[in-house]
Amino acid sequence: MNIETKAAQLRAALNRAAHQYYTLDAPEIPDVEYDRLFQELQAIEAAHPELRTPDSPTQRVGAAVLAGFTPVRHSVPMLSIRTETDTTAAGAEKFDEQVRNHLASEQRRTELKPGDPRYRAEPLDPIAQAVLAGQPIGYVAEPKFDGLAISLRYEHGVLVQAATRGDGETGEDVTQNIRTLRQIPLVLSGEISARSLPLPLAGEGRGEGGWPIPPILEVRGEVYMRRDDFEALNERMRERMAAGDRAAKTFVNPRNAAAGAVRQLDPAIAAQRPLSFFAYGLGDITPPEAGGPDFRAHWEVLQALRAWGLPVSALARRAQGAAELAAFHADVAAERDGLPFDIDGVVYKVDSLALQRELGFVTREPRWAVAHKYPAQEQLTTVQAIDVQVGRTGKLTPVAKLAPVFVGGVTVTNATLHNELEARRKDVRVGDTVIVRRAGDVIPEVVSVLADQRPPGAPEFSMPARCPVCDSEVVREEGEADHRCTGGISCPAQRKQALLHYASRRAMDIEGLGEKLVDQLIDGRVVNSLPDLYRMGFVSLAALDRMAEKSAQNLLEALEKSKQTTLARFLYALGIRHVGETTAKDLARHFGTLDAVMAASTSQLLQTPDVGPVVAGSVHTFFEQPHNREVVEQLRAVGIYWAEGKPAPAALLPLAGKTFVLTGTLPTLSRDEAKDMLEAAGAKVSGSVSKKTSYVVAGAEAGSKLERAHALEVPVIDEDGLRALLGGGA
Ligand code: IVH
Repeated sequence: MNIETKAAQLRAALNRAAHQYYTLDAPEIPDVEYDRLFQELQAIEAAHPELRTPDSPTQRVGAAVLAGFTPVRHSVPMLSIRTETDTTAAGAEKFDEQVRNHLASEQRRTELKPGDPRYRAEPLDPIAQAVLAGQPIGYVAEPKFDGLAISLRYEHGVLVQAATRGDGETGEDVTQNIRTLRQIPLVLSGEISARSLPLPLAGEGRGEGGWPIPPILEVRGEVYMRRDDFEALNERMRERMAAGDRAAKTFVNPRNAAAGAVRQLDPAIAAQRPLSFFAYGLGDITPPEAGGPDFRAHWEVLQALRAWGLPVSALARRAQGAAELAAFHADVAAERDGLPFDIDGVVYKVDSLALQRELGFVTREPRWAVAHKYPAQEQLTTVQAIDVQVGRTGKLTPVAKLAPVFVGGVTVTNATLHNELEARRKDVRVGDTVIVRRAGDVIPEVVSVLADQRPPGAPEFSMPARCPVCDSEVVREEGEADHRCTGGISCPAQRKQALLHYASRRAMDIEGLGEKLVDQLIDGRVVNSLPDLYRMGFVSLAALDRMAEKSAQNLLEALEKSKQTTLARFLYALGIRHVGETTAKDLARHFGTLDAVMAASTSQLLQTPDVGPVVAGSVHTFFEQPHNREVVEQLRAVGIYWAEGKPAPAALLPLAGKTFVLTGTLPTLSRDEAKDMLEAAGAKVSGSVSKKTSYVVAGAEAGSKLERAHALEVPVIDEDGLRALLGGGA
């Protein structure tokens, strides 16, 4: 292909992608692929400037205005920042050096002869001079939020307009939609500055919280959707789609869901989309001469925005010199997966506003800021096969086997397709090119298929009629999305899963009994049922493939240790359908002994708090089966033991009757740990805040749950508060 055709093809592909991304909010290629094509075109145009056409995507930024929104001309353009694709922490050093080099070249201009065209008469700002004398540069480091940029215009403290970025010069008026975000104040808090008010005194710290609100204030920031809100929204959409609602659709990622909501023409629909906001800068603002605040540093701006009632990320911090920037890059990278929202990198900004002015802009990008990206959370890959896996309860799950891709910091080779319905809805086929996403602790997912790259003749996926492991018949029960193998315990796949579940951390916690070993034990018929586990001797274990004597010994010890357990863990470990950890605890607490649970009728089981007919029926059916009773008897016979009898009446526990909701990241406790501690003290831990919630325990980056707590006036405590309630003190 000649270079001219290639460039034309790239232009067409990029323009199409930009239209899908910006105008339709429905991208078909991941950002990394867009960036790759963009760079390819840039390289061609650099080598052959004659091929640079005015319609080339390299010649413009951003989106066309969607018909239906009024255009808004930004009084101060919404610029973009230079983005380094370098995903390592080393970029900080480079940025720091670029800033210094620029200052040094400005300094050299002042040293030229006055007649020289490059001569600069005015001396450098004193801070710039201090930097040149060797002082470290003060920065502010912030996360790069993955949403869409919005400008909020406040006049005399009242929100009058919200606009998208558009092409940077002209955006869209989305005020109606933005007004529905509860995090965005319609009226700022604080005192309104009057021109007659004396100006604040110069110097640091003077304003912490005390800046008067300028008559004109444009706040720049990012509208985004939290991951949990995104998952819940897509879940709702899937339910509506299953119910035949043609207007429902799922979103590819939180950013697109957010963009779609902000640019939704019907504000009523926008209002139902859970959006959040972080402020990170200023646009137009009343100048100090006219009574506006005389900010000296970006950090002050952030503090003032927070004091006026705007959400500012708690992750933003000041950093001295490149080393502290690099440390921020590493710290945030380590936290990235656990954050409640997507970020795609970090942003470094020179803190001093005088230094920012000194540095200025290159074309449309400031020299005083740079973005450093993290590895992408979406990638393209191909589907090599669709396997069907059999779970503990016989549920069949289609799993896409992928050509390995590095995404979200790990190499992904599998992605679940959940069930037949889901596989068909996405229409994933063998040979397809797909977008894979992995964000946070969320399991990797195929988000969509590039339909135009499908190999001819690829057949649609369908579930097998017989179990791929034991060849038993596969059935799909009325009104259920799942297919099941009817082989039960005779199906080796189900036996393996049952064993893995029994050994899992929150069940019997048998360390070292992992997938590979379980495969060997079941396939080699060493273990046919749960009690067999405790009958294995050292000799049969050590005889297994790749089993060192030491590991065999460790496993035997772990098995021995697991014998001492609790009734709740044991009930959970049995893998009774619909009996999760919480239900197992409820049953153990209510009945006190295993015999009582086993002997209970369905109606007696229904007396257990929080146990409904489905669970009661399932427990009753389980213990009705002679082979299940047999397994339980044998497990007791090999020495599984727990303290029987009703535990201390729940009412006597310190937090009995109290309901807690956990949100955000606690400084030292994991969510599991906090939950265990609360439950041990008799409290219930719930996932959503209501008027009945006793306390919300909030950590860093707590979001909508915290807000709801405030709205419902539910007391909010932090980790220390929690420990105090638990009576532990420190
Ligand atoms: S500052 C002149 N700070 O990244 C500098 N931008 O090209 C203005 N973004 O679309 C931007 N997080 O919406 C800044 N902490 C942050 C940011 C951030 C995300 C977005 C912004 C813009 C792009 C910058």
